[in-house]
Amino acid sequence: MRGIAILGSTGSIGRQALEVIALHPDRFFVTALTAHKNAALLFDQVRSFRPRLAALTGVSSPVPIPDDLSFCSFRFGPKALEEAAREAEGQDVLAAVVGVAGLKAVMAARAAGKRVLLANKETLVAGGEMVMNACPAGTLLPVDSEHSAIFQCLQGAGPNRYEQILLTASGGPFRTWEKEKIKSATVEQALGHPTWNMGAKITVDSASMFNKALEIIEAKWLFSARPEQIQVVVHPQSIVHSAVKFRDGAVIAQLGAPDMKVPILYAMSYPDRLPTGGKELDLFAVGQLTFERPDAEKFPALRMAYQALRQGGAACCVLNAANEEACFAFLAGKIPFGRIPEIVDAALQRHASLPARSLSDIDRADALSRECAKAMIQATGA
Ligand SMILES: NC(=O)c1ccc[n+]([C@@H]2O[C@H](COP(=O)([O-])OP(=O)(O)OC[C@H]3O[C@@H](n4cnc5c(N)ncnc54)[C@H](OP(=O)(O)O)[C@@H]3O)[C@@H](O)[C@H]2O)c1
Repeated sequence: MRGIAILGSTGSIGRQALEVIALHPDRFFVTALTAHKNAALLFDQVRSFRPRLAALTGVSSPVPIPDDLSFCSFRFGPKALEEAAREAEGQDVLAAVVGVAGLKAVMAARAAGKRVLLANKETLVAGGEMVMNACPAGTLLPVDSEHSAIFQCLQGAGPNRYEQILLTASGGPFRTWEKEKIKSATVEQALGHPTWNMGAKITVDSASMFNKALEIIEAKWLFSARPEQIQVVVHPQSIVHSAVKFRDGAVIAQLGAPDMKVPILYAMSYPDRLPTGGKELDLFAVGQLTFERPDAEKFPALRMAYQALRQGGAACCVLNAANEEACFAFLAGKIPFGRIPEIVDAALQRHASLPARSLSDIDRADALSRECAKAMIQATGA
């Protein structure tokens, strides 16, 4: 039995994690659950999965707790995320919150000797080197579908190092749109992902391809890749979840129906594989798999990821923070879609060479980048 704390249990990843846990009560039990503000769903989840600890991280003063939940200790406020990561019983912490808010909790989980199952890519993008230094082999398992695919492809590689990572991307809803039309896309259009059903932020990131930018950076850290070893391949069917190429030319890929339950459960049960209850891949129904080069003109996010990686220091943290601000401003109707890459680019130009040696360095870079992004957002609204 593995005890699992789920940070962000009310989100898309968190809810799917609970669904696979419910399928395997002989293998997993829930030790802690956290939500930001969604108290009603958190209470339901606590009622069903009976963790000893739960937190509402976006609520600073205690809210009334239903009488039948007295077996669970509730915490409130942003610090409660770290507390849940550190204090939950059991070995595993699934980091499924959205944004850099997960970084300190991941560091707290590692300081307490927990294994981290990482969906929350922004944590690794912002804190890359520091996070990896805290995570010796086997203590950080990828949940992001592409990185889980790469991880799965590398099982059995023995001493052979890969030469190239082929990081697949659906291309999002604007893959076939003209550049000018993309700039004025609406929130509803950006939220219409063709193949994946996910939380709002990652769906908008997929439309701008900042999701793929974050994943390039995530792949660099998880697999010690040089930027030039990571090739983005647009694959609209989302069946090949990524691949690796070896020096003999062999390419090993992982395929499956687009279903996050597979990578979530693989990280939880690794190295075992368990049924997910999801739809199986039917290659005859899929028929054709196609691959395209990404269009760097239409989607400048990819160029910015490579640029930030080459700059080093806190550049990736700056990219992430500006993108978080711009993405949520777009969702709130404050800026047009086309402004997102402009805001990230400006933050990168302005704060190109900050250090990222410690949490306080990262906090500072994150704050400066957000300040720059917010000023641009305000100027857009004026
Ligand atoms: N969804 C996917 O298919 C998918 C695939 C690969 C990777 N990921 C990554 O997994 C992470 C979660 O994505 P998601 O789509 O599941 O997001 P989501 O549906 O928006 O859920 C986010 C979760 O985090 C909580 N939360 C929001 N803001 C928070 C904050 N400031 N501090 C602490 N908790 C906060 C939310 O609580 P409330 O419900 O109370 O707001 C919710 O439980 C992201 O980093 C994303 O990039 C997601």
